[in-house]
Amino acid sequence: MFEELLRRWDGEHAVARYDALTGTWMLVCIHSTQLGPAMGGTRMKTYGEPAEALEDGLRLAAGMTRKLAVLGLPCGGGKAVLAVPSLPTGDERRRVLDRYAELVDSLGGTFVTGPDVNTGEADMDVIGDRTRYVFCRSLASGGSGDPSVHTALGVFYGIRASLAHAFGSDDPTGRTVLVQGAGSVGAKLAKLLVEADATVLVSDVDEERARATGAATVRPDAALETDCDVYAPCALGATLNADSIPTLRCRVVAGAANNQLATDEDGERLRARGILYAPDYAINGGGALHGIGLEHLDWDAERLEREVEAIGGTLSRIYAEADAEGIPTHDAAERLAAERLREP
Ligand code: PHE
Repeated sequence: MFEELLRRWDGEHAVARYDALTGTWMLVCIHSTQLGPAMGGTRMKTYGEPAEALEDGLRLAAGMTRKLAVLGLPCGGGKAVLAVPSLPTGDERRRVLDRYAELVDSLGGTFVTGPDVNTGEADMDVIGDRTRYVFCRSLASGGSGDPSVHTALGVFYGIRASLAHAFGSDDPTGRTVLVQGAGSVGAKLAKLLVEADATVLVSDVDEERARATGAATVRPDAALETDCDVYAPCALGATLNADSIPTLRCRVVAGAANNQLATDEDGERLRARGILYAPDYAINGGGALHGIGLEHLDWDAERLEREVEAIGGTLSRIYAEADAEGIPTHDAAERLAAERLREP
């Protein structure tokens, strides 16, 4: 399986380490260093098989290359996956992170990491004890802190741009938005939408977490079929597939999750149904702008705000191009990324 996955992948290289003591597979996937060092988060998760973890990492790393290219940053794309037998805490977590930090350090700056699913600033602080190739450590440790505020803000601007394209007005007032996943980004996005007078529905497999947002909740198994203007996937991966797309009752899909489409054909399936899709890596780059902008490019807070807001403009451009060419929006985003990757 590993052989097949790597043979089919169009990235540069992947590094694997197995930590026998904790039973953790550490997989660093460096997709491209063409525009600069590869940057991307570290995801901690349990998987059925190590090969599934590698597949996830390889795909997420390719998404990072496109994300950073579309954002116009001088960085390549990568991603790391820590495939753990169960989510570690305490000393065990420290051990996993220490060993992982040594691996990152050994790559000499070809890969610089930040937080992703199930990792946060406390973990980045631990990693930062053994390597300098890490973003988003806590403010107290000299890092830029939790980037999820900016991921949520970027998605909010992206939703507004999507509303403008689909309905002729970017005003969220009275629009119904279903936020799926009330994690660090989803909960913040729900709050921004409530403040903008949208009607917000929240669904999470952890129903208590959904209720904690204060918005109306929808049962997790009913989320996809719920009538709404915007469906915002902010939980784990590929919810858009051949089975789910025919059941959607929304006009726009625009959310923070990475890898929302199960396959490329699902982009065409959405288009055929008249649903406007905000390509995931084009709308969810706010967190990367936060970590990379503040710590690698020396931006001040004002510059960061401007760049996050520009996510809306980039999406409008992608939508216009998709309309003009009669192609799915994710193909238009792909073209924009390819253009940037061709530039010297
Ligand atoms: N998890 C972030 C993303 O998917 C990755 C990231 C965060 C990269 C912060 C760099 C800095 O975009």
